[in-house]
Amino acid sequence: MKAAATGRLLLLVLMACSLHAVTCSSSNTTPGNQTDRLSLLEFKNSISLDPQQALASWNDSTHFCNWEGVTCRTTSNRVTNLDLGNRGLVGQISPSLGNLTFLKHLFLATNRFSGQIPASLGQLHRLQILYLSNNTLHGFIPTFENCSNLEELWLNGNNLIGGFPGLPLGLKHVALGSNNLSGTIPPSLANVTTLKGLGFNYNHIEGNFPHEFANFPELQFLGASASNLVGSFPQAILNLSTFVTWPR
Ligand SMILES: *[C@@H]1O[C@H](CO)[C@@H](O)[C@H](O)[C@H]1NC(C)=O
Ligand SMILES: *[C@@H]1O[C@H](CO)[C@@H](O)[C@H](O)[C@H]1NC(C)=O
Ligand SMILES: *[C@@H]1O[C@H](CO)[C@@H](O)[C@H](O)[C@H]1NC(C)=O
Ligand SMILES: *[C@@H]1O[C@H](CO)[C@@H](O)[C@H](O)[C@H]1NC(C)=O
Ligand SMILES: *[C@@H]1O[C@H](CO)[C@@H](O)[C@H](O)[C@H]1NC(C)=O
Ligand SMILES: *[C@@H]1O[C@H](CO)[C@@H](O)[C@H](O)[C@H]1NC(C)=O
Ligand SMILES: *[C@@H]1O[C@H](CO)[C@@H](O)[C@H](O)[C@H]1NC(C)=O
Ligand SMILES: *[C@@H]1O[C@H](CO)[C@@H](O)[C@H](O)[C@H]1NC(C)=O
Repeated sequence: MKAAATGRLLLLVLMACSLHAVTCSSSNTTPGNQTDRLSLLEFKNSISLDPQQALASWNDSTHFCNWEGVTCRTTSNRVTNLDLGNRGLVGQISPSLGNLTFLKHLFLATNRFSGQIPASLGQLHRLQILYLSNNTLHGFIPTFENCSNLEELWLNGNNLIGGFPGLPLGLKHVALGSNNLSGTIPPSLANVTTLKGLGFNYNHIEGNFPHEFANFPELQFLGASASNLVGSFPQAILNLSTFVTWPR
């Protein structure tokens, strides 16, 4: 009787252990989506210098969900976040990131990424925050009109040219300051009434400030200095206490 009870207890302990083992190693045994893995490997391939060994864990013996900077949805092992800000990375941003269809947050700010912002990022329907500030990105900004969940777009501190990009409704923060942008403020921007912060200091944006901007109920921060704007600003904007203070 006693022996049987002990045996049952041992069995329970064994079962608990094996359950535990399955839980612990699930991200190693569930392959996840190979498209995600291949997209990340392509991204790694377009990095030419990694002085802090930030990508040392990006190897075959480690599941991609455990690679530094990568976060996955635990249920499906799909990549939701890629956070490699301020790692001294030199290289280009691979267009393969456009295949990370579950990506919500992409943080690559304050590195030395050059080349263009891949147009494929504009296909990421679930993208909420894109942070590419303080790199040396060149060329035109692709359209983000189809990124219907995008809330924050941070592209300040690069060498981007051309005009305002296409922006989705629902956007809250747009930082374009300290680039080489030109052209005028597009009238379509007036439809993005959710804007809380808009910055394009230190560019060559010209023309006047559309009066539709008076209809931005949420606007709290506006940075428009050192651009070539002319004419009068809508009174509602002049009333903003934080006017011209928002980020370079
Ligand atoms: C992997 O993801 C891609 C793109 O989201 C999708 O088309 C494909 O069906 C997925 N494959 C598997 C095995 O889930
Ligand atoms: C692979 O990455 C792991 C960390 O996740 C590290 O401990 C291991 O040394 C790496 N292997 C190689 C061959 O670099
Ligand atoms: C995205 O995935 C598709 C199919 O899975 C592949 O053909 C294509 O080359 C990938 N695109 C990039 C930019 O990696
Ligand atoms: C980008 O650089 C500016 C100016 O040096 C700095 O104020 C800002 O904090 C930086 N942003 C990021 C995300 O590192
Ligand atoms: C945006 O989505 C529409 C409808 O699906 C499509 O026709 C268009 O090509 C997309 N634009 C971009 C830039 O991806
Ligand atoms: C800004 O862009 C113009 C072309 O639009 C180019 O001639 C100029 O060199 C650029 N300036 C900087 C500082 O990149
Ligand atoms: C703003 O949105 C309205 C309603 O969707 C549309 O009719 C109008 O063309 C848009 N304005 C601009 C300038 O895009
Ligand atoms: C701007 O502020 C003044 C004085 O505080 C106020 O009378 C006016 O109604 C405000 N205008 C708008 C458009 O908010």
